[in-house]
Amino acid sequence: MKKIVVSTGAGMSAESGLSTFRDAGGLWDKYPVMEVASAEGFARNPALIHQFYNERRRELMKVEPNQGHKLLVELEKDYDVQIITQNVDNLHERAGSSKVLHLHGELMKIRSMRRDDRIYDLTPDNLETSTETLDKYGDHVRPHIVFFNEDVPNITRAIELAGEADIFVVIGTSLNVYPAASLLHFVKAGTPIYYIDPHPAHVEVPNLTVIAKKATEGVAELLGILSVRG
Ligand code: OAD
Repeated sequence: MKKIVVSTGAGMSAESGLSTFRDAGGLWDKYPVMEVASAEGFARNPALIHQFYNERRRELMKVEPNQGHKLLVELEKDYDVQIITQNVDNLHERAGSSKVLHLHGELMKIRSMRRDDRIYDLTPDNLETSTETLDKYGDHVRPHIVFFNEDVPNITRAIELAGEADIFVVIGTSLNVYPAASLLHFVKAGTPIYYIDPHPAHVEVPNLTVIAKKATEGVAELLGILSVRG
């Protein structure tokens, strides 16, 4: 089976009703990004960050995967599909995608502030955390999110996966945030690249096909190009 690696950003979940970050009216218009999503912001005001991610989780519980997420699951009938997402939502998993690698962490997880390897799942009826929340060892917890100015541990695996792709697809990202934005440069020479986004960023890579459409429509078009029954 040929391998398709799909790199997704906030635009993938926009039609589910989750705001993107950098579009007009996006999250970074409403919240000061360096206060709610940076290592320094967390050190300065952890309560604000807990509150910000509590809100994001409550919002996530109200939305559903969209047709774009679902069509990516259909692609698994004919291809080995690996999703690499910058999104911290769980909409790919809830749609049924079997291989999802999160680059920027996961909203529905928290971790110990003393031991990075102690990671815990939150559940829909227990999704709030605060500066008082302790894990079973008595340690404080933080959102399992990669803040700005923190390392991106899964990037090494993501780069390997990009290099294994027979087809590489980018969906709904402004390609502003590195290292995630660099993934399309790690494909093997000759690999076809498709970029689905209604307002695509300017990229110069060989074998690029831009599909300037929203995710739902763009993924449907991609399935047509790849002759997958949708
Ligand atoms: P951005 O908000 O920067 O970009 C969203 C992209 O989605 C833009 O290119 C839009 O044109 C596109 N878009 C909007 N609606 C769409 C739709 N219906 N279908 C497809 N595309 C659509 O979001 P990201 O590139 O994902 O990190 O941002 C990257 C990272 O920056 C995020 O992971 C987040 C943020 O800071 C963290 O919080 C760690």
